[in-house]
Amino acid sequence: MAVLVTGGAGYIGSHTIAALQERGEEVIIVDNLQQGHKEALLGGKLYVGDLRDGEFLDVVFKENDIDAVIHFAANSLVGESMKLPGKYYHNNVYGTLCLLEKMNEHGTRKIVFSSTAATYGEPENVPIDEFDRTLPTNAYGETKLAMEKMMKWFDSAHGISYISLRYFNAAGAHESGRIGEDHSPETHLIPIVLEAALGKRPHISVFGDDYSTADGTCIRDYVHVSDLADAHILAVDKLRGGSSSSIYNLGNGRGYSVKEVIDIARSVTGRDIKAVIEPRREGDPAVLVASSERARNELGWKPSRSGLEDIIKSAWKWHEANPNGYQK
Ligand code: UFG
Repeated sequence: MAVLVTGGAGYIGSHTIAALQERGEEVIIVDNLQQGHKEALLGGKLYVGDLRDGEFLDVVFKENDIDAVIHFAANSLVGESMKLPGKYYHNNVYGTLCLLEKMNEHGTRKIVFSSTAATYGEPENVPIDEFDRTLPTNAYGETKLAMEKMMKWFDSAHGISYISLRYFNAAGAHESGRIGEDHSPETHLIPIVLEAALGKRPHISVFGDDYSTADGTCIRDYVHVSDLADAHILAVDKLRGGSSSSIYNLGNGRGYSVKEVIDIARSVTGRDIKAVIEPRREGDPAVLVASSERARNELGWKPSRSGLEDIIKSAWKWHEANPNGYQK
């Protein structure tokens, strides 16, 4: 039995593949390599192609005995999604529809889904739990919520059970230092701060210091990418054990402000990182912190790399060794 990982050459996908390999799973990867890097794959059998290509997916399912899918393949830039919502609906929503139809046709009935805190939008409660209101404030989050809802109906009609994992802020890199975060363009705080530490950027722009938080900057719940990878494997196991569909938040339950992130990065790197206060970025909620009690209780998830200093240390190890990302 094999696990199919879509979008496996991306940041969280590649770390999940590393974890699947470590436990001896047979791994099949589908990635169109528009954003992913084949250098990020530490194993598995790669098929380069797009989920929206039915004939291509038929070959993948026919050539392999796939019992479960972990679905990462998607566009994931919040800002871009506001400018090009059609791109996000086409790749994310229609791509997921094509995948679910092929799973149904080929008899694969388990899917673990890469979802996001962006499905909640501006939170009503902090920490956020899975029963809180979902009202996305950007097209990216809206497409991820639509994908979750699509899975619900494929479950009720066709018995495809799903576990949706709503991550908060993924960060860090694999402990081997062989894989890490390499987005183009990069928009996430920690890699940008580390690029400033490397001298690749003159400074880090702090998007707003007038939020109603202790130091005025936004607070986020950073979670190590390898802890996220572990959660996907627990979710596959749970579905293989016959569990019904579910949704889980994944975060550490502790928030750090943008200024705290920069201070910790200064101490981890020993470098002078210049910060410049700039206007707020549109659509940023002030505070996003997860309640992951459900994942801990029902999945048995125990994040083991939860301190922000350790998360930034692992990211720094990757960025220092690979200042220009993966070598092509
Ligand atoms: N930030 C800066 N300067 C930067 C980049 C980010 O100040 O150069 C701030 C942002 O304003 C935000 C915090 O750092 O307050 C974190 O920003 P990221 O872009 O790293 O992450 P987000 O919280 O915006 O995004 C994350 C996930 C998205 C998801 C979103 C949910 O990466 O996939 O949470 O809101 F959609």
